[in-house]
Order: sequence, then C-alpha cells, then structure tokens
Amino acid sequence: MEPAIPAVTAANIPAELRPAKRHWALDDIPWDAVRRDLVAGHEALFYMLAAASLMESATDLYTANLIEYFADDDEIASWLRDFWLPEELQHGRGLRRYVETAWPDFPWAEVREAFVEEFRPFCDEALEEERGLEMASRCVVETGTASFYTCLSRASPDPVLALLTRRIAEDEIRHYKHFYRFFRKYREIECSGRAAVAPALWRRVRMTGGEDRLIVLKHVHAAYRPGAPLDSRSYRRVHRQCRALMRPHFPARMTARMLLKPLGLGPRTQRLTVPVLAAVTRCVVP
Ligand SMILES: [Fe+2]
Ligand SMILES: [Fe+2]
Repeated sequence: MEPAIPAVTAANIPAELRPAKRHWALDDIPWDAVRRDLVAGHEALFYMLAAASLMESATDLYTANLIEYFADDDEIASWLRDFWLPEELQHGRGLRRYVETAWPDFPWAEVREAFVEEFRPFCDEALEEERGLEMASRCVVETGTASFYTCLSRASPDPVLALLTRRIAEDEIRHYKHFYRFFRKYREIECSGRAAVAPALWRRVRMTGGEDRLIVLKHVHAAYRPGAPLDSRSYRRVHRQCRALMRPHFPARMTARMLLKPLGLGPRTQRLTVPVLAAVTRCVVP
C-alpha cells in the first residue's frame, strides 16, 4: 500500500510560505516615473526585457502538462493553478508594460502572436518520471528566474525597473521555496536519493537557454531590426552585451546555494561546494 500523503494544514505551512497579506499589483509600480531617457538606448536591456516579457506571458502554454501531472494532489494543483500561474502571468504583464513604456515603437502584441505560433510545438516538454524529481527540476527553473531578476534589479539604471524586477525576483524565490517543499514531500514518499536527484538537476540546467531563448530572441530581433535576420554574428553581439551588463551583478552564491539545496549536502560539503559552483555559474552567465 502506498504511504499516505501528509495532510497540509495552516499550522504546518512554514511562515514564509503562507500567502502574503496582499500580493503586489501592477498599480503598485509608479509607471509615470519610468526613466525612458536612461534605458531607451540600452540594447541589452531591451532584448532581455522584451524576451522575458514574451516568455512569462506564455507560461500558461508550457505549464499545462505540469498542472495535469499533479492533478490528484490538491495542495500542489491548487497552488500551481491559483497562485503560481497567475503570478507568472503577472510578471509577463508587468514586463510588457515596462517594455511598451520604455520602447513604445516595439509592437509587443504582434510580436507575441508570431512568437507563440512558432513556440507552441516546443511547449509540451517531457516531465520527470518521478514527481519529486520534477519538483527538483522546477527548483532549477525558479533558481534561474530568481537569479535573472535579482541581477536585473541590481543592474537597472532606472529605479522603476529596479523595483519591478525586485518584486518579480521575490516572487520567484518564493516559488522556489514552494517547489522545494513539494520536492521534500515527494522525496519522502518516493525515497529518491541524491543519486537520482543530481542527474535531474543537471538535466534541467542543460535545458537552460536552449531552443526557447533562440526562438524568442529571433522574434524580438525581427521587430527591433526589421529586415535584418538574427544571424550568428548579431546573436553573439546581443549575447556579449547582455553578459557585460549582467556579470558584475550576478548573485552567484545565491544561485549556487539554491541549485545545491535539493541535494541535501552536509554543512561541511556545502561550505566547500558553494564557492566552486558560484565561480562556475559566474563564468556561464547569463
Ligand atoms: Fe516569472
Ligand atoms: Fe516563478
């Protein structure tokens, strides 16, 4: 007989995971204070924000199978459906609004339509065979987004963009904590050890920045420089500019700690491993 899944009550949800009194709203961002003069000519910022706004706005397309996978676990399915997905879509709306305010000539809706058409066939990505491993894999995704937005908020020359990306980064860190808690719940049920978790983490790390990034950048570029396709030379240029902006602000230690956490290393191993992994992540950013 399968072990029973422990019931979740308000008493056993850690304080930092209980819903905030009020989640931030787009109206909390002082859109009138956007410093267009500071960001309009910043090509790297434009590419990163436009690409992120499109990816976040498509979260519902590539997560339908995730919600389906946990359909019989009320706690996870309802959190994914009622909190996580709406928050990810809000990230898309917030970033869109910023992009449309700072770069009003960018035809966001038109670009999204073309992007979604090409991106849709890639959305049904394979899930891990064990639920706990899928949760570990989601921890990697949230680590990536938490690091990206933390970095952007530190690198932003515009205080409004810094505020918006800080709010998003806080959400991504909270998402990570939820996925980590769900990972632990299923690790106990499925008894997956470190030998299974480490390859699952690695599989997800290897997927970062793959086909998705290329597709979204291609569409952003096509609208930004009509008639000039995103060839390898322009891709390398954009990549170099983004890297130069992000690298000095990249939260390498935070990223390393979040990536290693599902392995449950002892304090001594953790102390030795974090700086090494932090150095590696610093080299491969963004
Ligand atoms: Fe997000
Ligand atoms: Fe997230």
